[in-house]
Amino acid sequence: MNYSELVSSICTLLCLISCCSVILAQQPYIKKATTLCDSRDNSTSVLGYTCNGSNQSCQAYLTFRAQSQFDSISTIAKLLAVDPPQLSQLNSVAQNATFDTDRMVLVPVTCSCSSQYYQTNTSFVIQHDNTYFFIANNTFQGLSTCQALQAQNRYPTRNLYAGTRITVPLRCACPTKNQSSDGVKYLLSYLVTSGEYVSLISKKFGVNTGNTLRANGLSEQDFTIYPFTTLLVPLQDPPSSSQVIGSPPQPSPPSSRTPPSVPPPSGGSNKTWVYAVVGVLGGLIIASVVGTIIFRMFFRKKKQKAEPASSPYSIESVQKPLNKKEDEESQEFWDSISSIAQSLKVYTFEELRAATEDFSTACLIKGSVYRGSINGDFAAIKKMNGNVTKEINLLDKINHFNLIRLSGVCFNEGNWYLVYEYAANGPLSDWIHKIDQKFLTWNQRIQIASDIATGLNYLHRYMSPPHAHKDLNSSNVLLDGDFRAKIANFGLARSTDGKEGQFALTRHIVGTKGYMSPEYLENGLITPKLDVYAFGILMLEILTGKEVALLYEGVNTELSEMLIPVLHAENGKENLKNLMDSSLQGTYPSNLAMLVIKLIDHCLKKEPSHRPSMDDILQSLSRISTSTLSYETTISI
Ligand SMILES: *[C@@H]1O[C@H](CO)[C@@H](O)[C@H](O)[C@H]1NC(C)=O
Ligand SMILES: *[C@@H]1O[C@H](CO)[C@@H](O)[C@H](O)[C@H]1NC(C)=O
Ligand SMILES: *[C@@H]1O[C@H](CO)[C@@H](O)[C@H](O)[C@H]1NC(C)=O
Ligand SMILES: *[C@@H]1O[C@H](CO)[C@@H](O)[C@H](O)[C@H]1NC(C)=O
Ligand SMILES: *[C@@H]1O[C@H](CO)[C@@H](O)[C@H](O)[C@H]1NC(C)=O
Ligand SMILES: *[C@@H]1O[C@H](CO)[C@@H](O)[C@H](O)[C@H]1NC(C)=O
Ligand SMILES: *[C@@H]1O[C@H](CO)[C@@H](O)[C@H](O)[C@H]1NC(C)=O
Repeated sequence: MNYSELVSSICTLLCLISCCSVILAQQPYIKKATTLCDSRDNSTSVLGYTCNGSNQSCQAYLTFRAQSQFDSISTIAKLLAVDPPQLSQLNSVAQNATFDTDRMVLVPVTCSCSSQYYQTNTSFVIQHDNTYFFIANNTFQGLSTCQALQAQNRYPTRNLYAGTRITVPLRCACPTKNQSSDGVKYLLSYLVTSGEYVSLISKKFGVNTGNTLRANGLSEQDFTIYPFTTLLVPLQDPPSSSQVIGSPPQPSPPSSRTPPSVPPPSGGSNKTWVYAVVGVLGGLIIASVVGTIIFRMFFRKKKQKAEPASSPYSIESVQKPLNKKEDEESQEFWDSISSIAQSLKVYTFEELRAATEDFSTACLIKGSVYRGSINGDFAAIKKMNGNVTKEINLLDKINHFNLIRLSGVCFNEGNWYLVYEYAANGPLSDWIHKIDQKFLTWNQRIQIASDIATGLNYLHRYMSPPHAHKDLNSSNVLLDGDFRAKIANFGLARSTDGKEGQFALTRHIVGTKGYMSPEYLENGLITPKLDVYAFGILMLEILTGKEVALLYEGVNTELSEMLIPVLHAENGKENLKNLMDSSLQGTYPSNLAMLVIKLIDHCLKKEPSHRPSMDDILQSLSRISTSTLSYETTISI
């Protein structure tokens, strides 16, 4: 039996096992819905956890992280409307205690049913310039959502004035019948921060990972969680402060795609136990088998490298002798293999040939990218040569809805084949302006911009070390079947290691013409702000419906020039209309389009530090998309 047969038979075995244990969600996990304030999709728990527990009201727990304004028993108790003595007792501190920043605080609440959702209410007085999103995400850290706030307060978000008091429903839930019969007495709404994953959180509270997954409608196949969302942890005993202080979450994101390690059962059913053991063993076997395969392939590749005569590699890599540094690099790569092996599937070349009808032109998408059909699902298969370990390593660390997912690799005769998730609607560049029936609405355009911003924000803020994509353009953004955007092509991505003041520099200027920021073109300065500039250009394309080359026609230096008559002339809206592709005229709400132009203008500032961060951009876009709802009927430009 060769490796691939072994791997596939183990896969079949595991699939059989997981099919036997049908998992029924107790409450659906919220996923990325928290930022989509205008979305009316209620398939996640975005409006609150559904009242389908065995009791209408129960004792529940929340977590909160101490922040500058809310760092003491009294301020936190007031913010979350809880009893200060209870709060200090649960956290084993004095009533006059203050907490260090980011210290996790446990909060006891009474959770009850309000119409169809479980919640505990508190109230909040609007401060200057708050939006529902800001209140839900930044002030309450994700314990509430902009959608729930909108649903339970009568003020539209644009009429939130300082001094207004609003109701804030905090997310909590009571155990369902099934959970109760499993011994679960309380549910804790745990606030996820970056770098955390389900098994780590479960371990903190001594809970079986499988039970936590099930409580949130997550599964071994789909267990991605996001910062500033709540994860329900099913508890048999009240939580204690010793569980939440001490080891803070490791800052280096431990590849959130690593299968959850399942700790020994704490009184769970016997079935779960068997399931866990088989799962862990299966996981280990797969990991070691796949690891060996990659190891072998890698060293075969190394060997070939040492024999230039037959090497299919680029000139650069052939000329480089196999020196000590490279040995270290290969050691590093080998070290990282163990994590790659757990999350990536290794395909045989035969499998990929079958998937792409022997790489036929009928399956060619573009360049060296083919569409393949693997087990009935489409995938994009990209043939590459040269050193792809950087891209593989980077993509392996990333698991984000708005960044294209690498699902497998194959190595054959000196070429790598990377297998990516398939985006049915192809590159954004095909959709910028109206071709045939292809046309994006205002809402879709704003959603796409938000998606791209969310993906970049993840690269800039939540990766460790932070990265700049460096080649954002309309061909590197792909649209899935629902027109949600995913950033692709991380071949040029670079770590920015941004300690303030000392940024990475390069002499090797690469990127796409028209999108490169002035400081990068002139000085090779690499900071996240170069992506912000490219994002500005991209948004200008999205808004005007004109591709970048067309935009530059008649512009002498910077594209921001063309915004001057829109922003600073009396007939600005008229000028904006002239800027737009004729096929789009008459389809935009004019006030909002002007806001987008302002945002673009900020992104295109010459001085990098004057550009907003991706985080700021996300908030502006979220405000714009929230207002989009109420402007739906007043289309004018
Ligand atoms: C509850 O558990 C029973 C048996 O374990 C199962 O048949 C049923 O589908 C579960 N219901 C829910 C809603 O999880
Ligand atoms: C609770 O309600 C949610 C949302 O309607 C549903 O997805 C879930 O299956 C329900 N769970 C139980 C145990 O009834
Ligand atoms: C979701 O929304 C639809 C229509 O707006 C409604 O009928 C349904 O009850 C809602 N589901 C939940 C779980 O709130
Ligand atoms: C539900 O209510 C019953 C009766 O009031 C109580 O005994 C039980 O502990 C409650 N269950 C939960 C999970 O709070
Ligand atoms: C908190 O109160 C106790 C007495 O109740 C007092 O001894 C202690 O100094 C106070 N600590 C602070 C930081 O004020
Ligand atoms: C929470 O506030 C909402 C909206 O004001 C209200 O409808 C609901 O009854 C309140 N729930 C509780 C438990 O106080
Ligand atoms: C949510 O709030 C946190 C905490 O202030 C902030 O770091 C994060 O960027 C916010 N998320 C978004 C999408 O704005």
